[in-house]
Amino acid sequence: MALWQTYYTPTSLEETLSLLAKYGPQSRLIAGGTDLLVELTRGTRKVSVLIDISRVPGLDGVALDGDMLRLGPLVTHNRLAASVTVRERAFPLALAAWRVGAPAIRNRGTLGGNLVTASPAGDTIPPLVALGATLVLRSARGERQVPIGGFCRGVRLVDLAPDEMLTEIRIPAMSPDERGVFMKLSLRQALAVSVVNAAVVVRRERGVVTRARIALGSVAPTVIRACEAEGVLVGGPLTDERIAEAADLAARAAVPIDDIRAGADYRRDMVRALVRRALTAIAEGREREGFPDRFPLLWGRTDGRFPRLAGKTVCHTVGGDEPIECTVNGQNHVIRGANGKTLLRMLREDLGLTGTKEGCGEGECGACAVWLDGIAVLSCLVPAPRAHGAQIVTVEGLAQKDELHPIQQAFIDEGAVQCGYCTPGFLMSGAKLLEELPNPTREQILYGIAGNLCRCTGYYKIVQAIERTARANSR
Ligand SMILES: Cc1cc2nc3c(=O)[nH]c(=O)nc-3n(C[C@H](O)[C@H](O)[C@H](O)COP(=O)(O)OP(=O)(O)OC[C@H]3O[C@@H](n4cnc5c(N)ncnc54)[C@H](O)[C@@H]3O)c2cc1C
Ligand code: FES
Ligand code: FES
Repeated sequence: MALWQTYYTPTSLEETLSLLAKYGPQSRLIAGGTDLLVELTRGTRKVSVLIDISRVPGLDGVALDGDMLRLGPLVTHNRLAASVTVRERAFPLALAAWRVGAPAIRNRGTLGGNLVTASPAGDTIPPLVALGATLVLRSARGERQVPIGGFCRGVRLVDLAPDEMLTEIRIPAMSPDERGVFMKLSLRQALAVSVVNAAVVVRRERGVVTRARIALGSVAPTVIRACEAEGVLVGGPLTDERIAEAADLAARAAVPIDDIRAGADYRRDMVRALVRRALTAIAEGREREGFPDRFPLLWGRTDGRFPRLAGKTVCHTVGGDEPIECTVNGQNHVIRGANGKTLLRMLREDLGLTGTKEGCGEGECGACAVWLDGIAVLSCLVPAPRAHGAQIVTVEGLAQKDELHPIQQAFIDEGAVQCGYCTPGFLMSGAKLLEELPNPTREQILYGIAGNLCRCTGYYKIVQAIERTARANSR
């Protein structure tokens, strides 16, 4: 069954705004699709018109304008985490983006999408609250600016009219006398929703705190500020006693619920622990510890930005004549009948490329990983019309001239395959990792394949196969 009826790919902001004005509540913008595709697949959201903004120019910038950091809504989590400017001038945001999902999710998931979904557990929202961000919203009617605190109004509820879109996130850049950090507690390292998260930004002059902002996520319907805790910090140094008092007050500000991930009492205790750790790290100047300078992005030799689509707005309707024209494994294809499908289904059903597997269909297992314009993505979360004008590589495209890719040979030699269902995804992540980091450390390998799950072989052989490929590369 089709997940939508009409799929527009506008190529300018003006066209996007006029489509929003025309279709209003019948339509939905789609950026990376990592939230929306899950909602559409589960049936928790129904929409007939999708407007894909991922190739609209001018919406994926990272720019420092005086002391104002201006971010486009299409900046992906991987680009935020890797940006020198964001790391220097909005450090808690870079750290939060680095903790989202796993590499292939971060290659498509955007800052704007995270904000508009407005999950109470959304990882980039606490840093934006602690940094005092302002959002720029545009429609064909004009522009308005909203402070982040006023934008999030409830669980997945934001101050955004059906014809409006988010076009910029403005953040006062951190000054040399400010320090900040983001902390996340989750049930595992990758692909895990925050049980509790917190962002803390403190300004000090000659050791005395002159301003503090503490934002807490996953403990209320929206991200909240712990204002009393902030108040006790101001006017003195960051001593152990003051930190402990602030952490207690932050825990009292939390109004969490019991759910499948944690009980309310535990969450409150964890707020206390995270806020104390965050403030202590700032007091001791250790807040950047553990955040590597270089980590796997799985965007290979690209800069993580997807190429634009030239020409006018394209419209793919379900049952319509407009074909999806793309290159898959070096061959040009003109595909009809896939306008309402995911890329995963198009590859398997329309092109017969069944190497790409469906495990979960929700971004959680990595079995469907492919390369979209040189960047690793999850094809279950990419609408097929997004492939129009793009270059795709699947596991069938790894081997060259009938010779296996070295990583394929290494998987055979190391016995890194049991049932083989997860293998195509591991190969696509592993090959992209090695393109980027030809001699990765063990930690970098684990980080690079964090979004791929294997239910039978176990990970030792898989890691050894990637290490074997790297050794062969370096000879
Ligand atoms: C496996 C998995 C793991 C994840 N892990 C995490 C995690 O650890 N932490 C976390 O915070 N999130 C996580 N997410 C959620 C998701 O990846 C992020 O919220 C992501 O940032 C959403 O961005 P997107 O571009 O994919 O949004 P989309 O899915 O494209 O859009 C999301 C919503 O935002 C709207 N929208 C998008 N851009 C705009 C705009 N410019 N103006 C107006 N509306 C807009 C869309 O209409 C839609 O309603 C995870 C998701 C998956 C599938
Ligand atoms: S991540 Fe796409 S099928 Fe599991
Ligand atoms: S080899 Fe069976 S799931 Fe990985």
